[in-house]
Amino acid sequence: MTRVLSGVQPSGEMHLGNYLGAFRSWVADQHEHDALYCIVDLHALTLDYDPSALAERTLVTAACLLAVGLDPATCTLFVQSHVPEHPRLTWLLECTATMGELQRMTQFKDKAARGHDDGGGGGGGEAPSVRVGLFTYPVLMAADILLYDADRVPVGDDQRQHLELARDVAIRFNGRCGDTFVVPEAAIPSAGARVMDLQEPTRKMSKTVSSPQGTVLVLDPPEVVRRKVRRAVTDTESEVRYDPKAKPGVSNLLDLLAAAAGGEPARLAEGYTTYGALKDDVADALVALLEPVQQRYAEVVADHGALRRILAAGAERAHLIAAATYERAARSAGLLMP
Ligand code: TYM
Repeated sequence: MTRVLSGVQPSGEMHLGNYLGAFRSWVADQHEHDALYCIVDLHALTLDYDPSALAERTLVTAACLLAVGLDPATCTLFVQSHVPEHPRLTWLLECTATMGELQRMTQFKDKAARGHDDGGGGGGGEAPSVRVGLFTYPVLMAADILLYDADRVPVGDDQRQHLELARDVAIRFNGRCGDTFVVPEAAIPSAGARVMDLQEPTRKMSKTVSSPQGTVLVLDPPEVVRRKVRRAVTDTESEVRYDPKAKPGVSNLLDLLAAAAGGEPARLAEGYTTYGALKDDVADALVALLEPVQQRYAEVVADHGALRRILAAGAERAHLIAAATYERAARSAGLLMP
């Protein structure tokens, strides 16, 4: 059976990009494959964060994943820091990946530069005050994937380069130390792979940088979703046409409609003569998509005890797989086994 693994950072509220780009595929994949999903709390330490809120955010993220439709009886849901092999394998892979590879990672360059912009970090070039963990982040991500012999990794388009790195590192390790890791493939959805900010449609919707008005949260009440969609930035023309370069705002709305209600963006455009009508339909489709999720969320989030039990069972299963893979990798790397 194909093994699937993916992860999400518990670093903010889940938004439409997370849902359409990743979680929907996770839900579908759990029924067809052996699926493991990981709340990557160690990754959330790489940027400024609030230590007093992280544990709660981790539980809330678990509740959100159950609400979108993950079934803990069908898939394995766990927290990264509960499985100690993640940082252990990271070290072996840090001794496989190169500085050059990590310096080419666009997410690192963006986040490091952003830290510089708000005076919090060191900027791209020398990056003296950027956390080392932000630099090595993709190696930890490679460890997340390779520990579980994942064949398939369902992610949004922004993770494509990180997946390439995980593949390159696996291939290099296998070449040097003998066949050890499964080489994973990214699974990127055809619709919703790159949801853009509604206020700045040339920038992806994101937990950390988007404008609050441009980010539709999975838990936004219907009237808030409608308001955000109504205020979405379009352009000064009036023609509804799918052209992401020339008309990023309108194209993003068409992408959202396609992802939420089905259809093909360029085709959908033919049905509209005004931006207002398009926005109304996008808002209706998003509200219909999110309402059942919000109802389930209210049911599951209150019971922290149940959430913790689900995560503990998930970590137990994940650990069985991860421990075996780590041992195999340590042997391949030539370490003396205890
Ligand atoms: P994260 O937490 O930023 O996002 C979780 C998932 O949501 C997708 N996503 C989007 N998809 C479409 N449009 C958007 N605007 C958008 N924003 C986010 C992401 O592509 C992702 O699939 N590095 C990862 C977490 C990670 C991971 C892993 C993923 C750590 N280890 C192992 C897969 C396998 C991240 O920061 O995702």
